[in-house]
Amino acid sequence: MAPPSPGDLRRIPSLTGSAPSIDLHDLPRDPTEMFAAWLDVALDRGVPEPVAATLATVDDDGVPDARTLIIKAVDEHGWAFAGTASSRKGQQLAACPNAALTLWWQPLVRAVRARGAVVEASRDDAAADLAARSEAARTGVDPEDWRLWRLVPSRVEFWQGSPDRRHLRIVYTRDGAGWHLDPG
Ligand SMILES: Cc1cc2nc3c(=O)[nH]c(=O)nc-3n(C[C@H](O)[C@H](O)[C@H](O)COP(=O)(O)O)c2cc1C
Repeated sequence: MAPPSPGDLRRIPSLTGSAPSIDLHDLPRDPTEMFAAWLDVALDRGVPEPVAATLATVDDDGVPDARTLIIKAVDEHGWAFAGTASSRKGQQLAACPNAALTLWWQPLVRAVRARGAVVEASRDDAAADLAARSEAARTGVDPEDWRLWRLVPSRVEFWQGSPDRRHLRIVYTRDGAGWHLDPG
């Protein structure tokens, strides 16, 4: 089969979801609360698999890599995700403990993006995460190799797309112990 031409790709519609309304005068002061509020809407609207995210890391040479994984928690400790230390992501995070996460909620034309340092959670937390997985998901996993990481964000962007291309970008930037909010 021939590869798709640029014209073929241009004809494929994008940003076709239905954007919920946002009250820019009543935004949470903290991106964790904002994420909780947006996730609530995503669950309410039946967004499929809303905690599947893309995690980007870099290797020893500064070359980026990205893959899909599941976000396990978003709270005051950071944005948690899990995998094996021996994986590419595990090796890359050991060499360069910084990462970025993105989520795309197509039905809402919403995207969330976070970047920051990555810290390894305690082995107890990693063991608890592994224990919470289904038996099938635990099969073949070496518990010694299992890690839980937390991305501690320095910047979080909540992007609301609009069919008329007047997109909104709500950005939280860490500011000392608090957050600076730029509401688009
Ligand atoms: C929907 C989805 C969820 C996934 N969840 C995880 C996960 O939580 N942890 C994980 O290590 N890999 C997960 N994977 C597999 C990763 O995308 C990836 O293939 C694997 O982690 C190896 O990546 P690496 O070689 O960059 O370390 C998931 C893949 C998909 C498509």
